[in-house]
Amino acid sequence: MEKSRIDLPIGITLDRFIKSNQSQYPNAAGELSQLLRDIALASKVVNREINKAGLIDIMGNVGAQNSGGDHQQKLDLLANTRFSRALSKGGEACGIASEETESFIDLKNDGKYIVTIDPLDGSSNIDVNVSIGTIFSIYKKQSAPSQPLTEKDFLQKGRQQVAGGYILYGPSTMLVFTTGMGVNGFTYESTLGEYVLSHPSMQCKEDGKIFSINDGLSYDLVDQGIKDYLHECKTQRMTGRYIGSLVADFHRNLLKGGVFLYPPTTQYPNGKLRLTFEANALAFIAEQAGGLATTHNENILDIQPTSIHQRVPLYIGSRKMVARIQEKLRQ
Ligand code: AHG
Ligand code: MN
Ligand code: MN
Repeated sequence: MEKSRIDLPIGITLDRFIKSNQSQYPNAAGELSQLLRDIALASKVVNREINKAGLIDIMGNVGAQNSGGDHQQKLDLLANTRFSRALSKGGEACGIASEETESFIDLKNDGKYIVTIDPLDGSSNIDVNVSIGTIFSIYKKQSAPSQPLTEKDFLQKGRQQVAGGYILYGPSTMLVFTTGMGVNGFTYESTLGEYVLSHPSMQCKEDGKIFSINDGLSYDLVDQGIKDYLHECKTQRMTGRYIGSLVADFHRNLLKGGVFLYPPTTQYPNGKLRLTFEANALAFIAEQAGGLATTHNENILDIQPTSIHQRVPLYIGSRKMVARIQEKLRQ
């Protein structure tokens, strides 16, 4: 079996994993470790709420929209509150930008890091009991420690990430993240209240036979290259799988090989997914696992964000499949 980069036994808890790798983290000083623990803690609370969603009044939407125009679900706002509170109390993050809030929140502490987060990804699936997720990125504060946070701190390229990860609330709840030293997956053992290492050193197959796209968009696609690519997938009898939760579609493709596409459409000329809250974290993971994430012509991680809620086209997963999409777009 391929030696994992971080050679630790399956079953080790997240805490022990972080502790035993503290020295190897490029930012070893304990604050990043604590920040990862704070995110894990908030995810356990959200997980508990999600598991009760049918029993307590947190389903459905709140009748409001976020700045991206998405209808906010009750669980969107609850998850946003839980993560914001955990990060604010933890003290290691000095600011948060969330998909659910117009601009960033200055936590007014001397934390070294900022967090960008999609507190609940796949909201349309909450009420129908289908897997949903949380996506997060951690960056170092760029402004001088004594200076207040500015929007610039939240407009860093994905390549600047100190850590990127997601939580998948599925048949089992998993935390998958990278700090630039490979990708490791932890499964939540609820009887212990612990995440335990279940997927050490995750690798994305360089090719695959699964393509994920909302087929309902077919007549809204603006690029002939994408239409040609999808036609090629179907003539090659590939498998179409689309859950409608980016985290779930991405996770399956990461494990089995495959590609996820959200191209420009007539409704979303720049694509639907958000660079800062969704694409950057998953692109960091994809690349660390040997995969690839691009727009039409740019590696996601190299894009200089111009606004916190900026949307991008997203092609992410097995390297050869993303490269084939690029070829089709150049034809
Ligand atoms: P969010 O719930 O955070 O708004 O994200 C939903 C995203 C993503 O999870 C999913 O891949 C995509 O929206 C689905 O969009 P369509 O319903 O247009 O296919
Ligand atoms: Mn999302
Ligand atoms: Mn969301």
